[in-house]
Amino acid sequence: MNVLPLTTNVSRLNGEIQVPGDKSISHRSIMLGSIAEGKTTVSNFLSGADCLSTISCFSKMGIVIDREKDFVTIHGKGAYGLQEPEQLLDVGNSGTTIRLMMGILAGQSFYSVLAGDESIARRPMVRTVLPLREMGAVIDGRMEGKRTPLSIRGGQLKPITYELPVASAQVKSCVLLAGLYSTGTTTVIEKEKTRDHTERMLAKFGVNVKVNGLNVSVDGGQKLKATHIDVPGDISSAAFFLVAGAIVKDSEVRLKNVGMNPTRSGIIDVLKEMGADIEIHPYSGNVEEEPVADLIIRNSTLRGTEIKGSLIPRLIDEIPIIALLATQAEGKTIISDAKELKVKETDRILTVVEELSKLGANIEATEDGMIVHGKTMLTGGTVNSHGDHRIGMMLSIASLICNSNVDLEDSEAINVSYPNFFEHLQSLM
Ligand code: S3P
Repeated sequence: MNVLPLTTNVSRLNGEIQVPGDKSISHRSIMLGSIAEGKTTVSNFLSGADCLSTISCFSKMGIVIDREKDFVTIHGKGAYGLQEPEQLLDVGNSGTTIRLMMGILAGQSFYSVLAGDESIARRPMVRTVLPLREMGAVIDGRMEGKRTPLSIRGGQLKPITYELPVASAQVKSCVLLAGLYSTGTTTVIEKEKTRDHTERMLAKFGVNVKVNGLNVSVDGGQKLKATHIDVPGDISSAAFFLVAGAIVKDSEVRLKNVGMNPTRSGIIDVLKEMGADIEIHPYSGNVEEEPVADLIIRNSTLRGTEIKGSLIPRLIDEIPIIALLATQAEGKTIISDAKELKVKETDRILTVVEELSKLGANIEATEDGMIVHGKTMLTGGTVNSHGDHRIGMMLSIASLICNSNVDLEDSEAINVSYPNFFEHLQSLM
């Protein structure tokens, strides 16, 4: 395992960063491009390990995908153009790859087997297996289909109306994609509004998606037409530098072209609520389907806050870095209604609390979230990403304000979503 000495005691951060393309949108561009008819092009694609897993899976099903740096061309073969893969489809560390791809595979009459790394092997798959079985797909796997490896044989599906038992865009997207292969109207009813990139991108590919409050419907049999997708910067990656700018004294950090989809921008609401000095400049570039802005953040005094309810799905991936932010805020920050954290790349309630405690934070785990008591001076020590990219990046930002040495174990996990993270961090010092 590689151990990386991190930079500590930083006096200020200053500069501008173009954060990499959005991970959720990059995955979807490959999947929809593969089942569309014709050549789809993608700019600002995130070439992180997770999205490369998606490319590799669709390549194994006979789709030609050319990638030159962050520009990708997908030679789509239409809804029924995928071929039975000769090998296992390896999703690596990527929950989005496996859960969304299952929706597409459920509509294919061929047989496929899906598996990933040890984190994927621990994560619940029953949430996508159940609705797909209800639609008629034959799926088996370890623990009766609750865990990977999973095998799928699909075909023509029955439409369903499915009430999501958890707030999950992956499950919503899986059922909607399967709905394209069904003989009628498939409707998903959400508990809370989750990220709507699938709905927006399906529309861009010419599919009629009906959204009515928390209900989303698609009719089966619709064809996807190839298009161009310009991927906005990932707000979940920007979040690390937003927090860095907010907590490192005398800092000013400018972030260009950040995706500001309202289903993803909960971190901005939290920063404002905590008293951060943040400027938002809506961007007038060429991204039509997803709102984008340039952001500027400066260091300021912060206060604790409460984060719960419908805000949670809007910032679920940012909770590790928000926990760090809360260590630098005066008073108590309470995060609740966030049980889903337990089934992310790691149990993020445990890993956040364990690792931040090592650095001297006053933080406790609760049943469905955590409580952070601020403001605390962070110290130093040996910390571990637990193979979770967002824990690795959060700890690297924490070290900036630590007053003694910090070593990060398993730092390579960061490649999953932000391969040039350390280069960008260095450019601000
Ligand atoms: C994602 C949805 C979320 C999020 C994940 C990406 C997506 O997961 O945590 O990083 O691209 O749809 P859930 O659907 O499990 O909440």
